[in-house]
Amino acid sequence: MRVSVQPIRLYGDPILRTAADVVTVFDKELRTLVADLTETMMHAPGAGLAAPQIGVGLRVFTYHVSEDQQGHLVNPVLHFPSDEEQDGPEGCLSVPGLTFDCRRREHVVAHGQNMHGDPITVEGTALLARCVQHETDHLDGVMFVDRLDAAVRKDAMRAIRSAPWGPWADVNAVLKLSPHPTLGGRF
Ligand code: NI
Repeated sequence: MRVSVQPIRLYGDPILRTAADVVTVFDKELRTLVADLTETMMHAPGAGLAAPQIGVGLRVFTYHVSEDQQGHLVNPVLHFPSDEEQDGPEGCLSVPGLTFDCRRREHVVAHGQNMHGDPITVEGTALLARCVQHETDHLDGVMFVDRLDAAVRKDAMRAIRSAPWGPWADVNAVLKLSPHPTLGGRF
């Protein structure tokens, strides 16, 4: 299997606004996709990465929240066992260098499949729950900025518009962006 770090699509790329397709074929291509996602996520580095972020419109994401909370999930369906919420900084590898406080559910149970098609469940709280919600949103064409409170969202959109990598910026300016952003909660 040839595994490679893929370019990460940035805010403004239409694929990030397109709902991804359900995976129905569990073949070598899917295993390569999971390996590429993992490699690209670790290289970024990020705590999670969804297939549309590397240009593939399939319902797959990888996560690496801690050494014992890492893996991948295909065709996730989320359940929320409690109404409890969490609020805290969230970032996205497709929105580099920017983090904003985002409210999420505290506890998530995600049913889906692994790359071989076997049913699996990922259950978590805190950062893992935040990650699973963020990545599943990506599969629905939803960005975390959509989830922000109105005032914060306004600030976020202003920051994105003036970001050196943004869809409204000179593409050459991307080269000046630091390859080593400092924050951990980026998906
Ligand atoms: Ni993201």
